Amino acid sequence: MPELSPSPSRTRGLHIITWGCQMNVYDSARMADVLRPLGYQPVERPEEADMIILNTCHIRERAAEKVFSELGRLRGICEERQANGRRTLLAVAGCVAQAEGEELLARAPYVDLVLGPQTYHRLPEMVAKVARAGGSVIETDFPAETKFDALPDEAAPQTPGNLTAFLTIQEGCDKFCSFCVVPYTRGAETSRPVAAIAAEARRMAASGVREITLLGQNVNAYHGLDDDGVSTVDLAGLAERLRHIPGLERIRYTTSHPRDMTTRLIEAHRDNPALMPFLHLPVQSGSDRVLKAMNRGHTAAQYRELVAELRKARPDLALSSDFIVGHPGETEEDFEATLQLVRDIRFASAFSFKYSPRPGTPAAGQPAQVPEDVKSRRLAVLQALLREQQDTFNASLVGTVQDILITGPGRKAGQLNGRTPYLQPVHFEGTPDLIGQIVQVRITEKLSNSLSAILLKEHPDA
Ligand code: 5AD
Ligand code: SF4
Repeated sequence: MPELSPSPSRTRGLHIITWGCQMNVYDSARMADVLRPLGYQPVERPEEADMIILNTCHIRERAAEKVFSELGRLRGICEERQANGRRTLLAVAGCVAQAEGEELLARAPYVDLVLGPQTYHRLPEMVAKVARAGGSVIETDFPAETKFDALPDEAAPQTPGNLTAFLTIQEGCDKFCSFCVVPYTRGAETSRPVAAIAAEARRMAASGVREITLLGQNVNAYHGLDDDGVSTVDLAGLAERLRHIPGLERIRYTTSHPRDMTTRLIEAHRDNPALMPFLHLPVQSGSDRVLKAMNRGHTAAQYRELVAELRKARPDLALSSDFIVGHPGETEEDFEATLQLVRDIRFASAFSFKYSPRPGTPAAGQPAQVPEDVKSRRLAVLQALLREQQDTFNASLVGTVQDILITGPGRKAGQLNGRTPYLQPVHFEGTPDLIGQIVQVRITEKLSNSLSAILLKEHPDA
């Protein structure tokens, strides 16, 4: 077997396949960071890789089946490389690894490493273990040291040239919604200290990042330790600190829980100009009966009230949400209540899903499962309504002036691409020297998935 022990003298190829949420995208980048000192460099194709990591998502349907089918494909690539005398380490990371680690190794014994989301800082050690012992290594504990403490401070070098970046500030969730695996796969809620986040944000801004999205499964429950090591800072406080970092213009955060939408955070949308007027605030259902069964801890009226307060604080705020149709026990009347809530609130965009039982979660064991055809029909009706609202929202911007972060050249010569405060892609004519700036445009047309615009002038303080 070729030598695998940590030695930075040789370059090795690393190919990471990322499924699922933005948190996984962030985790994949961090895994690449901790492996870099071992000589691992990203490669485009798995065929060129000495190590392949499949970073998985467990949130919805047939997660494990998808993983096994992808592993089958990757196994073929590993075997072909082996035939040419080149060993490939195959690792499965993320939430499927966490939830089904043992079963995974039983069904796919050719996998070398299985690691849960809390243990990727141990990757170098695990790689060494595989090299020493052969066989497979599994790490799905929730270790006492957190991965954030264990990561070197200078970890997270950002890809130069990136204008937007994700930054994980909080992980795990204590809410235990009836349908959700996150509290089991990502563990209890933990927040990173303010100093570590601020340092990472400063490095990002210094490398050219202008827009940061703060990530967490329950991001607005954030309560990180302040520099004194005793007091804690909430999300409103954190955003206030971050907005003073030179170069950092825009701050977003996702995903929030309605119960943690505090008055302070609502007021931050009024007082902190860096906070973008676009909020992803999942409601899941518009029926109080279903919300109770989901253990969401809020009613539809409370959600409506919250939205009213947010819109009062920031009148141009647009909302997006997640919905689940067909939660066990959901009746036609419950579903109608969801449609009514959507009509009342008017969402700018949304994600909607058919309920799918996740093993080990309370809802999975409930007898009143909704038949598949009913779920499909409800999802189609809800999605048509949400699509209509998204189109209406996009069309409502035609004629308005918007601040656009220019992210790169457009598809056609002489064109630039950017995004609005509401994350819609926009293209307009302009010169490449403007890339990275925030400029004002007038929206001229709504296309099917984007907007076109004309450049007005450079932003006064860009
Ligand atoms: N079935 C369907 N959708 C789910 N989600 C989470 N768990 C499930 C499940 N078991 C959806 C929720 C959540 C989003 C990330 O995924 O709407 O907000
Ligand atoms: Fe899952 Fe979000 Fe509920 Fe937490 S708040 S259990 S992450 S759906």
